[in-house]
Amino acid sequence: MPLYDKILILTGAGMSAESGLSTFRDKDGIWSQYNYEEVATPEGYAADPERCLEFYNKRRVMHRDIEPNQAHKALARLEAEYPGEVIIVTQNIDRLHEEGGSKRVIHMHGRIDQALCQSCGQTYDISYKTLNVDSVCPACKCQGQQRPNVVWFGEIPYFLDEIQKELVSCFLFLSIGTSGSVYPAAGFVNLARKAGAHTVELNLEPSDGAVQFHEAHQGKATEIVPAYVDRLMYEAAIARKEVVQ
Ligand code: APR
Repeated sequence: MPLYDKILILTGAGMSAESGLSTFRDKDGIWSQYNYEEVATPEGYAADPERCLEFYNKRRVMHRDIEPNQAHKALARLEAEYPGEVIIVTQNIDRLHEEGGSKRVIHMHGRIDQALCQSCGQTYDISYKTLNVDSVCPACKCQGQQRPNVVWFGEIPYFLDEIQKELVSCFLFLSIGTSGSVYPAAGFVNLARKAGAHTVELNLEPSDGAVQFHEAHQGKATEIVPAYVDRLMYEAAIARKEVVQ
């Protein structure tokens, strides 16, 4: 394993599962309990804003009492200690990467702890507070136009230009805890691979796009991510001749 100048890591719901957050498409996942068209689309919000806001209010409360797990902490250690750049692109709207110590985190699907005013476009922190149909925008003072700052189905994810730049210039692309069923994130492996990156999947089971990866490891994130990080650190030390073989 060489020393990689840049590692790009894509994470999904499986990363936070062992912190206590449900995934979306596993048995008993969020989309087995809710119709995503009602709660995670602009049309669902327009049809019944109260139902949609309530869905996110409940999820926001769930986020209050959770802690980063060993997989989040391992990625933070990688960023702090690896001799190359380490960038996380997450589909998760939680803050567990940051709470685990990671600094370079791109939230392509937004953040549960922020609201977005549909009238003036301002985003603002709401921490674990609820949003309701009467909530007022702190910037433009309008009422009734507030939604979570979360990218819904049919909307364009955030930071795609920046992500594309990092994808085509990374040397190792790691995908962790994502089913690979939602685009554009599901297409990142292909872009990185075509640009020459080594591609690795770490997931509980083979994802929908598993065949596109050069290498795959199956298991729980809290076990396989720290082990893979240890391996990267060890190989980097060998490459820099810090370890006698
Ligand atoms: N460790 C590792 N992987 C796990 C674990 C675990 N403990 N538990 C579950 N997984 C894996 C599952 O096997 C599955 O492949 O995590 C993946 C989770 O897939 P999804 O539920 O589809 O979540 P994700 O890929 O993040 O969804 C993408 O879809 O609904 C939208 O916007 C939402 O960001 C989300 C996007």
